[in-house]
Amino acid sequence: MADRIRILEASLAAKIAAGEVVDRPASVVKELIENSIDAGAKSIAVFIVEGGKRMIRVVDDGVGMSRSDAQAAFQRHATSKVSCEEDLERIETLGFRGEALASISAVSRVRLRTKECGALTGVSVIVEGGGEARLDDDGVPEGASVEVKDIFYNLPARLKFLRSADSEYGRVLDVFKKAALINPGISFSLMHGSSSSRGIYVVSGTLAERVAGLFPEYKATDFTEARSPVVNGLIASHEVSFSTTKCLYVYVNKRPVKDRSINSAILDGYGTILDRGRYPFAVLNITIAPEDVDVNIHPAKTEVRFKSQRYVYDAVKAAVRRALGMEVGAVSQAWQTRPVDLRPVNPVVYYSEGKADQQKNFYANEPVAVYGAEPRLFQGDVADTADAGFSTDVKTPELA
Ligand SMILES: Nc1ncnc2c1ncn2[C@@H]1O[C@H](COP(=O)(O)OP(=O)(O)O)[C@@H](O)[C@H]1O
Ligand SMILES: [Mg+2]
Repeated sequence: MADRIRILEASLAAKIAAGEVVDRPASVVKELIENSIDAGAKSIAVFIVEGGKRMIRVVDDGVGMSRSDAQAAFQRHATSKVSCEEDLERIETLGFRGEALASISAVSRVRLRTKECGALTGVSVIVEGGGEARLDDDGVPEGASVEVKDIFYNLPARLKFLRSADSEYGRVLDVFKKAALINPGISFSLMHGSSSSRGIYVVSGTLAERVAGLFPEYKATDFTEARSPVVNGLIASHEVSFSTTKCLYVYVNKRPVKDRSINSAILDGYGTILDRGRYPFAVLNITIAPEDVDVNIHPAKTEVRFKSQRYVYDAVKAAVRRALGMEVGAVSQAWQTRPVDLRPVNPVVYYSEGKADQQKNFYANEPVAVYGAEPRLFQGDVADTADAGFSTDVKTPELA
């Protein structure tokens, strides 16, 4: 019988691998925001057109890349974050697999524009559908801007499964909220335009101010702080509850994670004051030595494994009970003593959102307002957002 096994062509293999990292616009946004955070950005601006199906752009003021790094970044397993096996044992960055830019550029049209801190000129790199990188000099500010157009244009099987622009935007917004909530040193903005809706968020300041900006439907008095050396954040009173876990914002060393055991620790912390089948609102970051947690479980990096699951469970449950003013019970006192500083930075929050039909001059009539705008940083300045064709209602948060 003839041999049936053959090695896949490189471009096909790349598309298959890309599928593990990029399954919809929201996963592109997640990877790009993670890169900006890892690059030490103080300000991250996200632009989205048609839920990200048409265009995603993430602009940061981080360290940027040299010409050769900007070209290398698109190769698979190209990373500046891990260099030896020991590094894998203690990962302190959000990225480490060197897959995101390679995967994204295998299934879309990408343009990276970047200038390294202190460099004279910047560079732009264009990669389409995993093809050759095309480089050019580019006069850009320090930092990086990554623009991703026409996701899955060369992968019809995936394209077919994308939902409506507003539904994809919902997932992008979730990714954005997760990042914006937990990084108090970074200002975030998000602008979305589709033919049926638009949205703008500009968020900075303390965790409380970020919650107020991202969830204006809740009152400051609904929240109480959870503070311990291991677990800190904000939790809402049991009166704010949901039928799903969608408002459990759980992080390990500021990485958003999905973990059933932590979710049950939160629920068990509330105990019987929460109605059966209801889930609370919580933003909780667990700070743990990088060598005590394995984040390399899945390409999406949202699953983790702890050396001591029990310790984490107890710490979370105790922190929740303490924040709610309940007895903590017979658990170690270690995480109950030292208060953790939530680091207030630039206390400003702007928030605005509305339907396109109420804002006639927006996207529906002027799609170029988003597309044609030069990548710029929005450091909490509303005037900038107005210039780009967005009108904004400014609301100061009630939280002190
Ligand atoms: N916004 C950015 N600013 C500076 N460098 C970046 C940025 N995005 C990507 N890079 C560089 O490109 C490399 C590859 O990125 P990526 O494919 O996401 O892999 P990883 O984040 O796992 O290293 C990163 O290691 C980093 O050196
Ligand atoms: Mg990355």
